[in-house]
Amino acid sequence: MAIALIVAAGRGERLGTSGPKAFVSVAGRPMIAWSIDAFRASGSVREIVVALPPGWEPSESEAAELDGCIRCEGGEDRSLSVRAALEAASAGEADEPVLVHDAARALVESHLIEELVLAVAPGSGCQAAIAACPVTDTIKVADEGGFVLSTPERSTLKSVQTPQAFSRNVLERALAQDDGVLSAATDDAALVAQLGIKVLLVDAPTENFKVTEPKDLELANLILSRRTAGGSI
Ligand code: C5P
Repeated sequence: MAIALIVAAGRGERLGTSGPKAFVSVAGRPMIAWSIDAFRASGSVREIVVALPPGWEPSESEAAELDGCIRCEGGEDRSLSVRAALEAASAGEADEPVLVHDAARALVESHLIEELVLAVAPGSGCQAAIAACPVTDTIKVADEGGFVLSTPERSTLKSVQTPQAFSRNVLERALAQDDGVLSAATDDAALVAQLGIKVLLVDAPTENFKVTEPKDLELANLILSRRTAGGSI
């Protein structure tokens, strides 16, 4: 069995809403509820830990969506929230799969969660696996002056998402690095790779995007409303 850490402690300034982004309404429910549903629907997740903004209390209806989850206070930066969530989890085997997920990816589906758990299952020989999709744009590396430095070969590039899955002992070691190292990281896989661990890329759909700006919220609303109505998009 696996555990899931859902980080929801960000304020979401780019979305332009008042409360925490993870609790903005999407298709009639707090955004985080959709991810929790997907992890609950996966047959291999035994526990869900949610990192919430420090000092923030959910309303009664928001708290109801977190029923059965372990709650903890998140940190100043995303990786510090991941560390707080792992510390709040119940004890488990050193090779137990741990999934880290951004509450802002409300469209995650349980079959992707299952694939990631399988990838890092004890005995698989793999200790880190992350959701990723091919990029469709050509990507340029820019210099400090804003000029193009180089054009990486597009077929080798992947846009990385969450969930990211790790053997528990590997994630614990990655998160034991200095706070400064953690604060500089934009994903957990980078911290794990710094330990010399190989990270497997697992194909994921572009639909598993991160809700960052108002237009993302509109699209998430549309897709989740269609999904709940039993339609496809
Ligand atoms: O800000 P961004 O969208 O990159 O955040 C990704 C995820 O990390 C979000 O789900 C957000 O709630 C979470 N986060 C957190 N603690 C922070 C910053 C972000 O849990 N200090």
